[in-house]
Order: sequence, then structure tokens, then C-alpha cells
Amino acid sequence: MPSVLDDDIEAVIVTADQIADKIVELAKVIDADYADREPLLVGVLKGAAMFMSDLALALERPSTMEFMAVSSYGSSTTSSGVVRILKDLDRDIAGQHVLIVEDIIDSGLTLSWLLRNLASRNPASIEIVALLRKPDAVKVNVPVKYIGFDIPNEFVVGYGLDYAERYRNLPYIGRLKPSVYSNP
Ligand code: PRP
Repeated sequence: MPSVLDDDIEAVIVTADQIADKIVELAKVIDADYADREPLLVGVLKGAAMFMSDLALALERPSTMEFMAVSSYGSSTTSSGVVRILKDLDRDIAGQHVLIVEDIIDSGLTLSWLLRNLASRNPASIEIVALLRKPDAVKVNVPVKYIGFDIPNEFVVGYGLDYAERYRNLPYIGRLKPSVYSNP
């Protein structure tokens, strides 16, 4: 359904159908890889909220869920690499098979930090699934096991991704018109 938010989008980068198909594909691989283990999905708020929900629904095998909220300092359209925990996990993950669920890897700094932080809590295993990856992510050596889409180095919003907290509820990933963030 068209929304007033669509008017601020210059181009659709990944459609809602492409996202849905990719999530089914990822869920099949994850179900197979975790056939003898129960993954603990750790969603990284707020951006991964939509992806976390749809991925969890698509998994056919048992899984459990936890959420963390982290924030990188810096301007709203680039990442600085300084991360702070806004909301920590509600339980101990020692001995658990953790699967970090992230919406996007841009500089890779958030995930690099998160991986080290969670790995220090002695999980039995730890892997990452990210819906989107930008080119700069290759500069930071973060081992991401499951990737949805590689996208260009553009400022994108939708399906969890925001600009000034808006656009998270667009059902697709789109490129924001520069006029939107140059004239706040
Ligand atoms: C965004 C996104 C990732 C991170 C990626 O989160 O959701 O967590 O930045 O950037 P990086 O790879 O350069 O570190 P943000 O801090 O904007 O918070 P949000 O999810 O609440 O929007």
C-alpha cells in the first residue's frame, strides 16, 4: 500500500518480495545448519526488529530470542565505531548457540564490537546473520556466516533502517532522496 513516506524515496534497492524470498532461503539454510542445536537469536535493536521477527517466523525448527540495543556515536548517516550498550541481554548465554541477527553491516564496527563482547560470555558457538552488507564492511574482518544482500554504498532506509527514527516501517529498502537529509 503506498504510504506518504514513499514520496521521500528516490529508488527502491530491495523490494518487499525480494526480502521475503531471501528470508525463506536463509531460514532453510539456518534450519539445516542448526538441525542438532537450538539457536538463540540475538536481535540488535532497533534496526533488526523487522528482520528478526520475519526470520524467526520463517524458521521451522525451535529457536529462542533475546534482544540487545546498542548505539554507535557519530552523525546520523555514518558510523563512528564507538559502541555503547543501551539494553543488554536478559540472560546468561554461556553454553548457548548464539546467532546474532543484524539488519545491516556498514562499517562493520558495530558487529565487530558486538561479536567480541558476546564471545567473551562463553557461548557454545556464535555466528552472524545480516540482511544487508555495504562494501566498506570488507575492511573490518567480521566473519558473517549468512548474508541477505550486498548493496551499494548509499544511505538506505526501510525495513527497520531509519533516518532520524523515521522510515523503519517501509516494507522495502530504499534510497532516501538527498533533499530529505540535507534540509532537516
Ligand atoms: C545501525 C544498524 C547497525 C549499525 C551498522 O544501527 O542497525 O546496527 O548501524 O553500522 P556499522 O556496521 O557501521 O557499525 P544504529 O546505531 O543506527 O541503531 P538503530 O539500529 O537503532 O537504528
